[in-house]
Amino acid sequence: MNRIYTVAVVGGGIGRAHIMDGYETNKDRFRVLAICDLDSGRRNGLADEFGIERRVERFDDLLAMDDLDIIDICTPPMLHHPMVIAALRAGKHVICEKPLVGSLAQVDEVIAEEKRSTGRLMPVFQYRFGNGIGQAKAIIDAGIAGKPFVGTVETLWRREADYYAVPWRGKWRTELGGVLMTHAIHPHDIFTYLMGEPKSLFGRVTTRVNPIEVEDCISASVEMASGALASFTATLGSADEISRIRIAFENVTFESDHAPYNPGGALWKILPRNEATRLRIDDLLKDWQDTPPRFETQMRLFWDALEGLGPLPVTSADSRRALEIVTAFYHSSETHEDVRFPIGPEHPKYRSWLPEGFR
Ligand SMILES: NC(=O)c1ccc[n+]([C@@H]2O[C@H](COP(=O)([O-])OP(=O)(O)OC[C@H]3O[C@@H](n4cnc5c(N)ncnc54)[C@H](O)[C@@H]3O)[C@@H](O)[C@H]2O)c1
Repeated sequence: MNRIYTVAVVGGGIGRAHIMDGYETNKDRFRVLAICDLDSGRRNGLADEFGIERRVERFDDLLAMDDLDIIDICTPPMLHHPMVIAALRAGKHVICEKPLVGSLAQVDEVIAEEKRSTGRLMPVFQYRFGNGIGQAKAIIDAGIAGKPFVGTVETLWRREADYYAVPWRGKWRTELGGVLMTHAIHPHDIFTYLMGEPKSLFGRVTTRVNPIEVEDCISASVEMASGALASFTATLGSADEISRIRIAFENVTFESDHAPYNPGGALWKILPRNEATRLRIDDLLKDWQDTPPRFETQMRLFWDALEGLGPLPVTSADSRRALEIVTAFYHSSETHEDVRFPIGPEHPKYRSWLPEGFR
């Protein structure tokens, strides 16, 4: 019999997808014991829909529940930092939506707290999971792809006035950033998951689509630690929506599926440069095990990690890298400088990337 971990989901927006796709599909590993939301309609709606026992208004009440193992934080971005710290201090395991926190200083504080806590922390990057990205990762990790040359990441999505009717969105102090923070963070994470650490970034951000404080168009030229080059482009003003990651290695070129919110799911275009490479890929993938996309696999792998059966599938170091990219973008756009990684406490945007006047 598997151990079943009890979960409280905090925030019933994307939290509903965590329940539906992450916990309902893994019922032999997790039980949602509590739903916490300030909004009674959402709280009661989800409790009724999924038969959740406890309806909780105050986050702090979760910290005192001895029979609760995991707190899954799906609240607006500015609340992540105090909630993650409080949950780790209470000894709970923590899952937290992106962006994990609001500065590199806060990430480092969370990493230090994680070391002291008996709880484990897994940030959410569910786009990493699925057959398409899983096969690409396996080919790269097996050394078949060879030397990486170049890559492009396009996050071409669409957001309009109805989306910004939710009060926390579009504002520096509550969303903490725009397309870079909330949307393109996923495809950029996929890219570094496959291609490793960035070395430097020259980027620009601007607001051209919606009447909001934060950026909704970005572009950058990136040099990876491997020496490979990359370009990142994103907008929230595209007529249709696609996410596309295309990477050329010495022996293989990969192109992701274009499904905007699930580019890792369907099989990717895998183009070997010669017959010998094709045979090595066929051999590697001959016993491929189906990997369901998004939350189903991310939550299952979290269970494995809690049981000591594997590593955490996403770590606070992964969030740090994602937020370093964001920090580099804002600094480069403001100063027209090429920003080098890693970014440490000496950097002027280490404590906050928010523009002057919003800190
Ligand atoms: N991984 C993804 O693909 C993905 C998709 C959408 C949103 N997100 C992230 O998830 C987070 C939430 O986004 P959303 O779109 O679900 O927002 P939302 O506004 O739809 O939902 C947030 C919920 O949190 C509740 N809430 C706010 N303060 C609270 C508090 N103090 N205690 C308890 N509940 C509280 C609100 O009442 C609301 O129901 C954001 O960080 C966002 O970036 C991630």
